[in-house]
Amino acid sequence: MTKSVSIEQITKKFDSSVAVNNVSIEIGQGEFFTLLGSSGCGKTTLLRMVAGFLQQSSGHIRFDRKIIDTVPAHERNTGMVFQNYAIFPHLTVAENVAYGLKVRKQAKGDIDREVRKMLELVRLDHLAHRLPRELSGGQQQRVVLARALAIRPDVLLMDEPLSNLDTEMRLHLRSEIRAIQQQFGVTTIYVTHDQEEALLISDRVAVMSMGNVEQIARPGDIYLNPQTLFVASFIGDNNLIPVEIEALAADGTASARLPSGERTEARAATGQQLTQGTKATLSLRPQDIDLAPAGTGGLQGKLTELQFLGGTIKAFFDLGTGKPVTVSLQGRHGTQIPVIGETRSLIPLPGATTLYAGEVKA
Ligand SMILES: Nc1ncnc2c1ncn2[C@@H]1O[C@H](COP(=O)(O)OP(=O)(O)OP(=O)(O)O)[C@@H](O)[C@H]1O
Ligand SMILES: [Mg+2]
Repeated sequence: MTKSVSIEQITKKFDSSVAVNNVSIEIGQGEFFTLLGSSGCGKTTLLRMVAGFLQQSSGHIRFDRKIIDTVPAHERNTGMVFQNYAIFPHLTVAENVAYGLKVRKQAKGDIDREVRKMLELVRLDHLAHRLPRELSGGQQQRVVLARALAIRPDVLLMDEPLSNLDTEMRLHLRSEIRAIQQQFGVTTIYVTHDQEEALLISDRVAVMSMGNVEQIARPGDIYLNPQTLFVASFIGDNNLIPVEIEALAADGTASARLPSGERTEARAATGQQLTQGTKATLSLRPQDIDLAPAGTGGLQGKLTELQFLGGTIKAFFDLGTGKPVTVSLQGRHGTQIPVIGETRSLIPLPGATTLYAGEVKA
């Protein structure tokens, strides 16, 4: 029976450096939960604590409400698909998958049946008697997945399981992992630095930065409603424009002044506290901007560069903000493409501009 996982105020220090900083996450039974963040943000460290390979400095981890802090790794009944958790080279595919079941001293008939089932699931039944060196990278990764699932884990832990594979195999295995996870209904914690992978495969995602969890939400919310400046800059293409908060109205709208002196009205992103007279950052996605003739409202920008990408056209406008503002135009029949050097009005979709306290890092 799969279990829920509670990560409660977990901190991990290596000497004086903090790798994971007071992280709390509640993961429901059967949920596909992903830790997403760039290299060194603490993803593997957190996963290794859940696995029991690493002891936290403080905080608790529970499986189904039961504290497991002192339970050794091999008694936590987790299935592990780690990059460095290789298959056994001297055992066949079937023997690799049977390994965990043999350790658990299950009857031979049961083991054989289970192994067959698992190999069918990952579509390797025809290769059961091969050795790992006779398999492709993607096939080897599927053996690891089958071995992890064969023990009927309470929790499945995966650390960048697809990162060594080519694009085609990665996309294929990605949807396969999700399908198998759904079929098993097994609680899964998945680690990746690939945001597209995280947003496509997960029920919910935790975006991490420097040991901290920045936001926990469903993929759509992470993209449409980023709650910190880090998430707004990390997830998807975005224009982040430095502004100063000139005035704050009672209804929560702020008047923000751009470096050019132009002003725009916008709301604070959820959870952000703005202060009058301080520096802030305006966030506006490239596809949320319409173009209109110069001087017809919005923000005035001069076109400096065009990139034709087929279905979309990226137009770069100089707004005197130091960095060009990207507008993404649909490459549709009849689209009016502006000319380099032209000035246009950039008109944000209603509600699409949001404000974050503080300045963007260059
Ligand atoms: N055994 C260790 N001793 C000292 N520092 C460590 C140790 N393991 C990890 N760290 C440090 O902790 C931080 C987090 O490392 P971690 O491996 O969790 O990052 P990650 O998010 O998995 O990164 P990547 O995407 O590169 O795998 C890093 O700064 C790393 O150098
Ligand atoms: Mg890692």
